[in-house]
Amino acid sequence: MRLVGCGSALPVASIANDALSARVDTSDEWIRSRTGIGARRVAGPGETVTTLATDAARASLDHAGWEPGDVDLILLATSSPDDLFGTAPRVQAALGARKAVAFDLTAACSGFLFALITAAQYIRGGTFQRVLVIGADQLSRWVDWDDRRTCVLFGDGAGAVAVQADSGGPDDLLGFRMRSDGSRNACLTLAQTEEHRPLIGELSSQTGGFAPIHMNGQEVYKFAVREVPAVLAEVLEGCGITAADLDWLLLHQANQRILDAVAERFSVPAERVLSNLAAYGNTSAATIPLMLDEAVRDGRIQPGQRIASSGFGAGLSWGGALLRWSGPAH
Ligand code: COA
Repeated sequence: MRLVGCGSALPVASIANDALSARVDTSDEWIRSRTGIGARRVAGPGETVTTLATDAARASLDHAGWEPGDVDLILLATSSPDDLFGTAPRVQAALGARKAVAFDLTAACSGFLFALITAAQYIRGGTFQRVLVIGADQLSRWVDWDDRRTCVLFGDGAGAVAVQADSGGPDDLLGFRMRSDGSRNACLTLAQTEEHRPLIGELSSQTGGFAPIHMNGQEVYKFAVREVPAVLAEVLEGCGITAADLDWLLLHQANQRILDAVAERFSVPAERVLSNLAAYGNTSAATIPLMLDEAVRDGRIQPGQRIASSGFGAGLSWGGALLRWSGPAH
């Protein structure tokens, strides 16, 4: 498989740390020093997971030089769908990608990486030739804006990549590992509420609805700085390369301190660590393709370069991948 295009989309409205302190007891200094975050985008009227995902997907199609009708599969990684039955088909319709099968994949902040690895299996198995992998989230819907421990961290956005079968060239997914540990699920949840409503006689049925994001920040932090280096070390070893051979470290953008700790473990210099946390915060499934798109478009990531990537978060779930960026053929 080859990575041949990328795109991204963001809501218009940006909320800076100082503006948040008008709502909760926080400060720019606290947020920046603990997380590296300076602002986050929040979807307004008319902006949804569908519109953001569609805009990102369209940009990646144009970048790859594909027509919507070329796409065989649309995989949408999201934990904040517009429709619990699936948001990917809405994106398929909006793109006019008539022959594409489209479905959602939920693995929180690991979602994009898991979806990219899933796409690779369909391509390698010969089922599909052209796949759009999208990461899009609108966690502003599910944040308790009065909880300063979580509301400062998250933002909305979308990113997408175009992945193409190519039996001749080198494969752009050089290696990967995926992990889940549901026994630690309670560390970070966006869970169904437990309310029941009377149904018939003694019978009741559960009322649909979710509680806002709940997080044990310290446990999640410890999990990330322990598991991300471990899984990346396995990936690199499996590929027979060392961190010195890497061009870029492209981690899920959760917290600058996590990025710095992982970089230090592998002795990757700061200028090789991609970060846009300051502008967008944690956009969940969108962070990796959003950051990739920014660095491809501004010329930092060049064709043929090797990128170590890791997604991690709720589930708990985490994974690592060694990628190569081919870019468009035209
Ligand atoms: N502004 C000001 N004070 C805040 C605050 C905020 N936004 N959020 C928390 N605090 C306060 C707490 O209330 C606490 O005060 P108290 O001691 O009076 O109760 C104090 O700061 C320390 O809280 P703590 O939770 O121990 O802070 P921390 O140093 O662990 O930093 C995180 C909190 C969330 C920044 C940090 O734990 C973290 O980054 N965890 C990982 C989160 C993450 O990446 N999640 C997504 C994974 S995909």
